[in-house]
Amino acid sequence: MKVLSKMKSENNPAPQTHSNSVSSDRVFSGIQPTGTVQLGNYLGALVNWVAMQESHETFYCIVDLHAITVAQDPKELRDNTLKLTATLIACGIDPQRATLFHQSSVREHSELAWILNCVARLGWLNRMTQFKDKAGKDKERASVGLYTYPVLQAADILAYKATHVPVGEDQKQHLELSRDIAAKFNHDFDVAGFFPEPEPYILGPGARVMSLRDGTKKMSKSDPSDLSRINLNDDAETMAKKIRKAKTDPEALPSDVDGLEGRPEAQNLVGIYAALAGTTVKDVLRDYEGKGFGDFKPALADLVVETLSPISQEIGRLSADEKYLKSVLDQGTLRARSVAEPIVKQVKEIVGFL
Ligand code: AMP
Ligand code: TRP
Repeated sequence: MKVLSKMKSENNPAPQTHSNSVSSDRVFSGIQPTGTVQLGNYLGALVNWVAMQESHETFYCIVDLHAITVAQDPKELRDNTLKLTATLIACGIDPQRATLFHQSSVREHSELAWILNCVARLGWLNRMTQFKDKAGKDKERASVGLYTYPVLQAADILAYKATHVPVGEDQKQHLELSRDIAAKFNHDFDVAGFFPEPEPYILGPGARVMSLRDGTKKMSKSDPSDLSRINLNDDAETMAKKIRKAKTDPEALPSDVDGLEGRPEAQNLVGIYAALAGTTVKDVLRDYEGKGFGDFKPALADLVVETLSPISQEIGRLSADEKYLKSVLDQGTLRARSVAEPIVKQVKEIVGFL
């Protein structure tokens, strides 16, 4: 896949990779089983998940405990969990290499989350911008789970002593909190180095994909407008239509990155192109300088369809095989438990449980 080849060339806190051996770093990341996976998830997180499974021990978790922090429908949650399993495999996650599982099946996540709730400070959580966004105006009516959501996220990572966490830019603040919680636990219980401070792995022009209808808003599964996002299971026709209808401005594309300043929609479309083509925004502008969106959009639509269509077809094929999907999750659960159980057992001893 073109996108992957650029990873190592970026100036990022990339973990060391070895062509023939698996490094000692441990990778963990999560995705919520809500709605369908969209292009932002794919470019911001999943392409890196796929690349990292080649060289690292990787744990990829469908975070169903996080999904119940907002109103949800039990049948939809079950269906979405299986659909997401199919989607992740269709994107290139190999269940033989990566441990793919759902969060609620490994009780250590919840147990550690409680302990870490007693380590994290109210003041830290009060600063979390995602809670403010998701809770909306009437914060009194938000669930307590939504408030402590980032502590559960820290527990996800720390239950595996993960060192690297590939995510989109919107998760930066949650990752900083995870580091603070790890450091405070180590300090309070005088166990220097027990929890590693996990490094966020946030990469390149796909780290923040914006809505196709409003370049100042994040592309999101939960946006009420379907035209705002490309879903991985859209058919080719729908994907191309969404790019054609994407909001733009009347100007031609500039010659350099600074020329995109103040043009959020143009910046977003060029960024998507660069991320899909495995190149930089600068290189895309070199090719399209002076061209209008009448030229640029068809090229972008072709690239989107060429990359995502095979994935969309594979999602359809895998989704029909529920038995296989469940067996992948069962196997993942066993592997995940075998790592998290001894770590959380040690945590319980450290805090003084008999
Ligand atoms: P979520 O759908 O909120 O569970 O997100 C799963 C992963 O996708 C996380 O690593 C997010 O940071 C990433 N992500 C979600 N939306 C975007 C976006 N619009 N641009 C880049 N990354 C994203
Ligand atoms: N909060 C993340 C999101 O919405 C999902 C998530 C849950 C996660 N636990 C995690 C991401 C642990 C990385 C590591 O995208």
